[in-house]
Amino acid sequence: MQIHLDAEKCQGHNRCYALAPELFDVDDYGQAVLLDDGEIDPSLHDKARLAAANCPEYAITLTGD
Ligand code: F3S
Repeated sequence: MQIHLDAEKCQGHNRCYALAPELFDVDDYGQAVLLDDGEIDPSLHDKARLAAANCPEYAITLTGD
């Protein structure tokens, strides 16, 4: 599974960071940044799905298994 963040859509709601701080950080402007845009460790797949489902701007998408 890979995670993708559309910076154009992100409005800084920070739910992703609150739910999955292993995958996201927040920059100085309150916008989300991915900590790793490569393959996500399987132990974090549920958190990735949770973050994607909770972003009100649909800025987070997942690909792969
Ligand atoms: Fe941005 Fe969505 Fe996270 S708006 S800060 S990607 S919850």
